Amino acid sequence: PNSVKIAPSLLSADFSRLGADIEMVEKGGAEVIHYDVMDGHFVPNLTIGPLVLKDIRKCTKLPIDVHLMIENPDQYIPDFAKAGADWISVHVETCPHLHRTIQLIKELGKKAGVVLNPHTPLSSIDEILPEVDFVLIMSVNPGFGGQKLIPSCIDKIAKLKATLKERNLEHIFIEIDGGVKLDNLKSVIDAGTEVVVSGSGIFNTEDPISTIQQMKQV
Ligand code: DX5
Ligand code: ZN
Repeated sequence: PNSVKIAPSLLSADFSRLGADIEMVEKGGAEVIHYDVMDGHFVPNLTIGPLVLKDIRKCTKLPIDVHLMIENPDQYIPDFAKAGADWISVHVETCPHLHRTIQLIKELGKKAGVVLNPHTPLSSIDEILPEVDFVLIMSVNPGFGGQKLIPSCIDKIAKLKATLKERNLEHIFIEIDGGVKLDNLKSVIDAGTEVVVSGSGIFNTEDPISTIQQMKQV
């Protein structure tokens, strides 16, 4: 299988010391930084936007994976691109003109991803699939860190992996987000996940550096 990348989610970091926390996860061997954007409308929580992204961009060379949990993402995508995002993903549930939104991300030179909530069927991305660089499968209902992984999402990933193979789209990678920890990481990887987001599973452990190192052994 292709190598799996660990993407710590800054949602569970200490927002008063983001630079130090990024340095810490880099020390553990993290390959991607996951950056959650919430608007209090699409999801019932608020986080950070392009201004904070612009500053943390100076702290790391790792790709920054911007997960937009916001309504009308088209309005903000250029700002996130300019602030230094490398990957930008949008929820299929927020994009009535998903094809246009994906093209916008690609025109800005960024990797474009589509995200599915736990209840959203894979069939909803049948048509857009050839256009995206990656698919992010939510394994919790988005909005908060520290929730439990919904087990049916693992089958969903296996099904998506099979579809990508069938349709000769194996260059598209699968990312998972929500409730992933050391103890369920193997099942997630076995299903075909290539990018693993983990927030509380890393930052809320005693020694986040060693947790990431252990994750990389799985
Ligand atoms: C949830 C966010 C996740 C969150 C995951 O809405 O999209 O990225 O940080 O946190 P954990 O890994 O704690 O479930
Ligand atoms: Zn996320």
